[in-house]
Amino acid sequence: MRIQNKHYTSIWLTDEDELQIIDQTKLPYQFEIATLKSNSDVCRAISSMQVRGAGLIGVTAGYGVYLIAKNFPKQKNWKQYMREECDKLLKTRPTAKNLSYALEQQTKIWQNAAHDEALPKLRKKALELAREDIDFCKRIGEHGKEIIAKIAQRKNGQPVNILTHCNAGWLAFTDYGSALSPVYTAFNENIPVHVFVDETRPRNQGASLTAFELAEQDVPHTLIADNVGGHLMQHGMVDLVLVGADRVTRSGDTANKIGTYLKALAAHDNHVPFYVALPSSTFDFSLYDGVKEIVIEERNARETEYVTGYYHNADKEKLIQEVRICPEKTKGLNFAFDVTPHTLITGLITERGITEANEKAISTLYPEAKKF
Ligand code: MRU
Repeated sequence: MRIQNKHYTSIWLTDEDELQIIDQTKLPYQFEIATLKSNSDVCRAISSMQVRGAGLIGVTAGYGVYLIAKNFPKQKNWKQYMREECDKLLKTRPTAKNLSYALEQQTKIWQNAAHDEALPKLRKKALELAREDIDFCKRIGEHGKEIIAKIAQRKNGQPVNILTHCNAGWLAFTDYGSALSPVYTAFNENIPVHVFVDETRPRNQGASLTAFELAEQDVPHTLIADNVGGHLMQHGMVDLVLVGADRVTRSGDTANKIGTYLKALAAHDNHVPFYVALPSSTFDFSLYDGVKEIVIEERNARETEYVTGYYHNADKEKLIQEVRICPEKTKGLNFAFDVTPHTLITGLITERGITEANEKAISTLYPEAKKF
């Protein structure tokens, strides 16, 4: 995507073979690039959410395995070293399927080759995972745009009002995004769109990242507090809810950012179409019942007890500040994701096309799901 007339992906390898990312903990206050040199850097970047979003977590892990191999201390046992370091990566964040998707593919390489032979292959695979992520998201945009186009036709040129939760844009992947990819495609084809952006407490990915992305691309949008969506839907102000996903079971049950379930309930009650956009790397066909089986990450309660924002000092510099919003004695509880049952989902937008969210329809589009 373009930021101030320069094209960026959310992660890349430089010509000097350095791994660089956009530090998302600094957005929208500062646009800062960080270099990750070791597996500890990569694990910290994922856990602290310098990189976040299912697709980007997976791609970062793919590059992470390459860095692990690059830093291999020759006196150590290759496979034992790789296993221990990859386990650290796997433990960073449990909910997004894309992390294990990337690790599984890299593991096949290092398990079957010695260090010298594996190293160039791990680099190649990391680049392929990034390229695949971009390709999947681009295709999600093309399929999803059709849904927006149909609504636009019905509305005779009035903007299509889309509500989204969290950030499932290009910053959550390598480029384009999942839920925002159809929005960008529609916008670029002059289909009138307007996005209601849920702020997405506690980490505010909507306010900080989705709003940043949309503002940079000049896509019309409005920031709303998390609890506003139901009211908007009751008053006919939302034509479509479009969200991303962190893990989707073979029945279509969807784990996504905490609060997604409540949006789905409101959409269902008000007959507003509710679509989930995801690349196939987010499917976990081994699971059926998402509520019972998907592991939900619980993050540090501090994230709910404080908010982070910025202000301008006397020299007009932007300074980031964290402030406490509850009494000292009050403790927070911080589940990062919830599960929306497939019965509340109108459809899944994938790189292979759009499917209903049920086991039969999903396995028609993804025959590989049938082996579970
Ligand atoms: O905690 P995050 O920011 O990594 O969570 C990301 C999400 O849950 C988003 O909602 C997104 O839709 C899924 S990632 C494409």
